[in-house]
This record gives sequence, C-alpha cells and structure tokens, in this order.
Amino acid sequence: MTLPLRSDPVSSQGPARPAAVVVLAAGEGTRMRSRTAKVLHRIGGLSLLGHALRAARATGPEHLAVVVRHQRDDVAAHIAQVDPTAVVADQDEVKGTGRATECGLAVLPDGLEGTVLVTYGDVPLLAADTLLALLQAHTGAGAAVTVLTSLVDDPTGYGRVLRDADGAVSAIVEQKDATEQQRAVREINSGIYAFDAAVLRDALAEVTTDNAQGEKYLTDVVAIARRRGLVVAGHELADVWQTEGVNDKVQLARLGAELNRRTVEKAMRDGAVVVDPATTWIDVDVTVGEDTVVRPNTQLLGATSVGAGCTIGPDTTLTDTEVGDGAEVVRTQAVLAVVGPGASVGPFSYLRPGTRLGARGKIGGFVETKNAEIGDGAKVPHLSYVGDATIGEGANLGAGTIVANYDGVTKSRTSVGAHSFVGSDSVLVAPVTIADGAYVAAGSALTGDVGPGELGVSRARQRNVPQWVARRRAGTATDRAAQAALAARHDQPDQPDQPDQPDQPDQPDQHDQHGDPAQDQQEEQA
Ligand code: UD1
Ligand code: CA
Repeated sequence: MTLPLRSDPVSSQGPARPAAVVVLAAGEGTRMRSRTAKVLHRIGGLSLLGHALRAARATGPEHLAVVVRHQRDDVAAHIAQVDPTAVVADQDEVKGTGRATECGLAVLPDGLEGTVLVTYGDVPLLAADTLLALLQAHTGAGAAVTVLTSLVDDPTGYGRVLRDADGAVSAIVEQKDATEQQRAVREINSGIYAFDAAVLRDALAEVTTDNAQGEKYLTDVVAIARRRGLVVAGHELADVWQTEGVNDKVQLARLGAELNRRTVEKAMRDGAVVVDPATTWIDVDVTVGEDTVVRPNTQLLGATSVGAGCTIGPDTTLTDTEVGDGAEVVRTQAVLAVVGPGASVGPFSYLRPGTRLGARGKIGGFVETKNAEIGDGAKVPHLSYVGDATIGEGANLGAGTIVANYDGVTKSRTSVGAHSFVGSDSVLVAPVTIADGAYVAAGSALTGDVGPGELGVSRARQRNVPQWVARRRAGTATDRAAQAALAARHDQPDQPDQPDQPDQPDQPDQHDQHGDPAQDQQEEQA
C-alpha cells in the first residue's frame, strides 16, 4: 500500500507533520477540589496545560486547537499567554470526549485532511517524542485510528483496549460499560490518539450518547472505523507515567515528583553534580552547567540558569535568576536576580528583583538587596540592606550598612562610586551620591553627597567623661574593675601616667578623628 506523503515533512526521516493537534481541556476536574481550573495547576514550573501544549506544539502541527469549557475565561487567558497561536474552541453542553473533539474540529478548516492528534490538557508528562512515534506508527500502519495504549497493573477507571486475535484493536470499552471479562483486560486507553481527519469527522457525526454516562465517547470512533473495514492500530507505550492524567491533588504531587526526578536526572546527565536528588527541585526550563554542585534542599525555579562550576545550596531557592560560571550561592533566596561569574552570595541572604551582582562581587551573610547594581568585585559582606542603589566596581559597604531608599512616600536612588569605602553601621539616606574613591566614616547617617577623595562623616564626636563610673556606679563590679585597671596602670613603671596616647596630636583634624579607616577595615573583616 502506498502511503500519502504530506508535502512538508518535519525531517526527511520523520513522519509528516500532523494536520492538527486537538487538546481536550474542557473537563470539570471536580476531584481537584480547587478554585483554580485543573489544567492551570503547575508542576515543574509550567501549568499542566502548558506541558500539554509544549508537547503538542513540538510535533509541528499546522493547527493547534484547545477545547475549553469549565473556567473557560481563565483557561483561555492562560492559553493566550503560553501559546498565543493556539485556537480556543468552546465545548457546548453536550458532554464527553467525543463531543469535545467535535468542538475542536469545528474551529479548524472545513474538510481538513491528514492526521489529527488528540491529547489531554491534564496529562503533563507526555513527551513530544511519544507523539511523533505515535504519528509514525499511525502513518506506517496506514491506519485510520491509532490508539496510544499502556499495560498497567490496575486498570480501574480506564477504558479497556479490546484486540482481535491478530492484534488489531476492535473496540475501546469504558469501565462503566465493560463486562466482568472486559474489566480484566490490563491494556488501557491513554486517551491519546492519531486519527485520519476525514474518518474522525465522519465517525463523530455517528457517535451517540447511548451509554452508561450519557456522554459522546470519542472511544466509539474505534468501533465505527472497524465497521467500515478501516485499520485501527494500537501503539503501546512502556513508560506509563507519560499517559497518566491528573485528577486530584495526590496525583498532582505524584506526577510533579516524577517530573522532577526526570528533570534532575537530565541535569546530572548534562554534567551537574546533584548531591541529594530527593531534596532538589528543578523546573523544566532551568539550565545547569557542567560540574556545578547542587547541594541538598535547593530549588532552581522558573527561567533560572546556572553556569558551570558553581556551588548552589544547601537550602537555596533561585527563581528566574541567572548565575555566572564559578559563582557560589549558599542558603539564599533570589528572585529575578543576576549573580556574576565568580561572585559569592550568602549564607542567609535575600536577593530581590533587579539585583545584579558583578563578577567576583560579594553579597555576604544576612544581606537583602533589591534593584541594586553591585559592580564587579564590589562587596556587601555583612548584615546590610541595599535597595535602589548602584554600587561601583570594587566598592565596599561595611557591616550593617543600610541604604534608606524609602522616606515613607517615595523611593530614591543611592550611588556609591568605584572603590569607595563605606564604614560599618552607616545609613545612606537616599537620594545620596558617594563619588568614586570616597570614604564614609563608620556609624554615619549620610544625607548629603560625598566628593571624590573625601571622607564623609555624619555623627557625634566621642567624648570620654573621666571617673564617671566611680561617681555614678560606685560599688558595682564595673567600678571595682575600673579601680583595679587604674591601679594596674599606676603600678606599671614603663607606662606613662596620662591615659592619652602620646603620638596623637592635641587637636587632631576633625575628620581624621572621626573616620578611622583602619578601625572600619577591622570591622569589615571581622
Ligand atoms: C477517558 C477515556 C478512557 C481513557 C481515559 C484516559 C473516553 C470516553 N474515555 O476517560 O477510555 O482510558 O480517558 O484517561 O474518552 N474532556 C473534555 N470534555 C468533556 C469530557 C472530557 O474536554 O466533555 C477532557 C477532559 O478535560 C480530560 C479528558 O477529556 O482532559 C478526559 O476526560 P475524563 O473525564 O478524564 O475521561 P475519562 O472518563 O477518564
Ligand atoms: Ca481522566
């Protein structure tokens, strides 16, 4: 028999593209017990429907229709986002997979020819390769209908695939309509098929609702095709996970875990070291470079990409975040952030959207950042908040530096120039600009700019009140310690009597006294 070859094959070896894929997603999904439409629940970073549409789209169909009904507007809006060229088809009040498919065909060109694939919007693990293999088996067998089947241990609830002695599929019978003997069959209908478009259209017109559920069954097309003497083939899939649908939240978690297991395994095959696959969650669109070590309890989500040779985790969640080669991100939460190559982040830090840490930069422990450009080699090592700020290359914000970006009404920007040094426990009250090569004295509350080479100081001068403890805390342990320390000083023959440091000028320059860079540096390194 000569097979009709379509003019536009996917590749020279592969089968023809399908004329259309019809994705059924009109079912109610009552067992989910959810306000969210069933097909909009997510695993692996995509909705169930998103997974189904990806697989469908990857077969290169001329048309893609999604049949909707329950929570129709929510589902249609989601389709417009994830696959804007898919056509939304509304199912009417007639129930059943057969009616749903008819409604799908109704939005496609009249007299459509070629192969129509039918899939479900709630079967997320189905791979595009499986659909392509089904298509190939279908065209190869010259079949009018090819059913994707699997052999399962417990077929309860599924339609059973009945075969002739020669192996051809004679009918699919639903659980509720099946005899005792038919229920013993373990080969089940996955609900995924390849149809000849004309056969499907004509047979659906004949399908009635005369069955236990009063629905128009798509499965009845099989017996109708057989009655016409057409070939109905079964294509068995060994990987049963791919045909499993989500009906409740238990299945959602089960399929989510299996999808994750597959994604993590792929990451390892692509060269990542995953220390504990069981506690590592990786969404399907994430990329992880070779020799990157992913430590336990780490989630890599959304459009996150991690370069090669990085260390991520433990206890880290990166969402839509880009990490350059050789970076280290430990016990961190990051959303829409960029971490440059060789940079280090954490532990216990929170990188909010718009954080961009330059190459070899550092965001240390207990630091929160937002809309913050932190330049190459710049450091925010300890206990800081940096929001709406630009930190120049090689700059250093001392421990506890806070960028006060919000005055209760508006948010303003702060910038710290290249190689500038902000002393510990400073508050930079935005808007404030610290030039390149400037210093800020520790403990300053800065409200004005600091020029190049200047030291900005904004705090009270220190004064020591001699004998304060003796007068105000007499008899306390502190007082006794003070008396002992003073007595020891007098007993030391080499020690000068006066407590002032001899090498200090009497009236030091005000700025020098306040900003003690050496002391700041010690704090920074502590
Ligand atoms: C269907 C098959 C059954 C198969 C099983 C696999 C029929 C008659 N039965 O059974 O042989 O083993 O799938 O999971 O086809 N849908 C609509 N509109 C409707 C009804 C359903 O779009 O009116 C969609 C649902 O959203 C879902 C899919 O079709 O994506 C399957 O519906 P479901 O009710 O789960 O079918 P089953 O009765 O389980
Ligand atoms: Ca189902």
